[in-house]
Amino acid sequence: MYYGADYYPEHWPRERWERDAELMAEAGINLVRVAEFAWALMEPEPGRYDYAWLDEALDVLAQRGIQAVMCTPTAAPPAWLCQQYPDTLLVQRNGRRVEFGMRRQYCPTSARYRQLSRQITTAMAQRYARHSQVVAWQLDNEFGGHHARCYCPACAEAFQGWLERRYGTLDALNDAWGTAFWSHTYTAWDQIPLPTDAVGSSNPGLELDFYRFSSDQWISYAQEQIDNLQAHSSAPITTNLMGLGFGEIDYFAMGRQLDFVTWDNYPTFIQQDPAAIAASHVLMRGLRDQPFWVMEEQAGPSGWQAMSPAPQPGQLRLWSYQAMAHGADGIVYFRWRTCRTGIEQWWHGILDHHGEPGRRYQEIAAMGAEVRALGDRLLGALPPKAVAIVLAYDDRWAMRLQPNAAGFEYTPLWLTYYRAFHRLGVPVDVVPPDADLSPYALVVAPMLHVVSEAYAHSLSTYVQQGGHLIVGARSGVKDLHNRVVDRQLPGLLADLCGVVVAEYDALGAGNCVRLAIAKAGAGLGEDAVGHTWADILAPRGAETLATYLGTFYQGEPAITLNRVGIGTVTYVGVLPDQDLADGLARCAIERAGVAPLPETPEGVEVAARDQDGLRYLFLLNHTAEPKTVPLPEPGRDLLAGATIRNSLSLAPHGVAILEIPLGG
Ligand code: GLA
Ligand code: GLA
Repeated sequence: MYYGADYYPEHWPRERWERDAELMAEAGINLVRVAEFAWALMEPEPGRYDYAWLDEALDVLAQRGIQAVMCTPTAAPPAWLCQQYPDTLLVQRNGRRVEFGMRRQYCPTSARYRQLSRQITTAMAQRYARHSQVVAWQLDNEFGGHHARCYCPACAEAFQGWLERRYGTLDALNDAWGTAFWSHTYTAWDQIPLPTDAVGSSNPGLELDFYRFSSDQWISYAQEQIDNLQAHSSAPITTNLMGLGFGEIDYFAMGRQLDFVTWDNYPTFIQQDPAAIAASHVLMRGLRDQPFWVMEEQAGPSGWQAMSPAPQPGQLRLWSYQAMAHGADGIVYFRWRTCRTGIEQWWHGILDHHGEPGRRYQEIAAMGAEVRALGDRLLGALPPKAVAIVLAYDDRWAMRLQPNAAGFEYTPLWLTYYRAFHRLGVPVDVVPPDADLSPYALVVAPMLHVVSEAYAHSLSTYVQQGGHLIVGARSGVKDLHNRVVDRQLPGLLADLCGVVVAEYDALGAGNCVRLAIAKAGAGLGEDAVGHTWADILAPRGAETLATYLGTFYQGEPAITLNRVGIGTVTYVGVLPDQDLADGLARCAIERAGVAPLPETPEGVEVAARDQDGLRYLFLLNHTAEPKTVPLPEPGRDLLAGATIRNSLSLAPHGVAILEIPLGG
């Protein structure tokens, strides 16, 4: 297994490199990621390349058997480039061009930037394609970070071309966007504006298409780099994504163009919430339904102006094993040594600024020895498939453009449902709305807002074949053009759900509505509460699981269950609070016959990866207290090297990986 560090030899004197390599090797580090921001050093002036320093650094690392992920350096175009070619600089929504001085200042559409990228990428590919240490390529760095969309004239033209290819004729576009509204009818492609601040609130069809276009620009820019690299190199290609927290690029589409997915995991930036961290891992695994790597794993207190609190003893190790528990086949820490200069002075690496090994180094080195002992047995293993949660970038975008009610946000809602399964110890896959659902006993669509005939058909087939489905409020509201459908909600899903929305009430953030649980809904909890949104339902065949209390629609249905053959569809007309989501998940797994992993005490996460008749059961103590976990069956703890029966003791932030034969 690769256990690595993001290394910037260019930040340190040449005399230091041997010591770095020695300390890395002693910590079990067998890989570095290099060069993703080193364009100005590798091409100090146009067309003159200098790789001597990088070659020498790799040579020093080679003496310790350390391999490398080589990066294209296009996330940080040099000063000379930006000065010479100001048209490569991205324009923000407010119309201002970004200036040189940070990073990621380029426009991914710019033909000139693509040309300059092609030159440096090709030069690097030629140089390092057959280099014995290069095991993979990383494209750029965090596509879409800092600035996700560009509003420059080149993007305006490219957007118009993108629309022409999508719609074919202006009549089709005018119809799709409903441009009769406010005299928006277009009679030439070049009349179509970008949705800038100067335009203001634009047409929802145009805005959603602009989000799609912008996502496509990153994907096509990445594809050019992939093509350049593949012309010379057969090493696998990845790029470092940003988990669930970043929603500007359709990561399912980007995942398809990569050989493997990697992402950057900084737990302190999501309040160290184990479910939220896990959700990102699970999404990243879901992009290709394959194991992934963490390309930047938090290694210390982090921040630019102010830093996050210090990870407590054991937490760095815990977070790394948590990544492995959810499918990471490689862990690379950001960064090797904390930089003395630059805006990331407080973004701590494994070593502090002074470069001497400390507590964090010791912890990561101890884990390095464990990782070596584990060997490659976990590589390729995946969790059992039983439950899928649908995540759709179209829905994230449509809801961002128009939240429907104040404070109605896609990701927190999605996470509430995810967290319910995480708490129950039920492994989940994240799937796009056009996924093959047949491997799953239960599918949850927290909100399938933008719905095509194909999605509706796929869900309906799934349920008819015995699948169990949960559909959340504001599903089926829009078509692919971001038009509201011309039928009763949930639109194309209404027949399947056996219910229509008679009326709705946009409660707004922080406003709750109480629910009375009907007999048929026993198990959903006692005092169920919904918030932010309320659909007042009229069943068309479904039975009522819960009704509203204390409002003008008191007694009307809020949650329903429709039986379709042996399948079921639960429609949830409110945004559930966590307790209600927990109840919905509990009832649903029972209905679908999904068995959770062994129950764990509060604060102890459980996850599993299966391979070759063996289950690797991860038990992860996210608390600072010791915990005892009862075990229904014995297993060999691969970290402690002992067989554990009856119950397992976990130290504060402790981890166990039990190897258990799968029932034969
Ligand atoms: C004003 C305008 C209408 C409509 C409403 C709602 O009253 O005159 O055309 O736009 O606001 O926005
Ligand atoms: C991201 C980037 C890194 C670094 C860290 C910390 O993850 O990929 O280069 O900037 O953030 O800011």
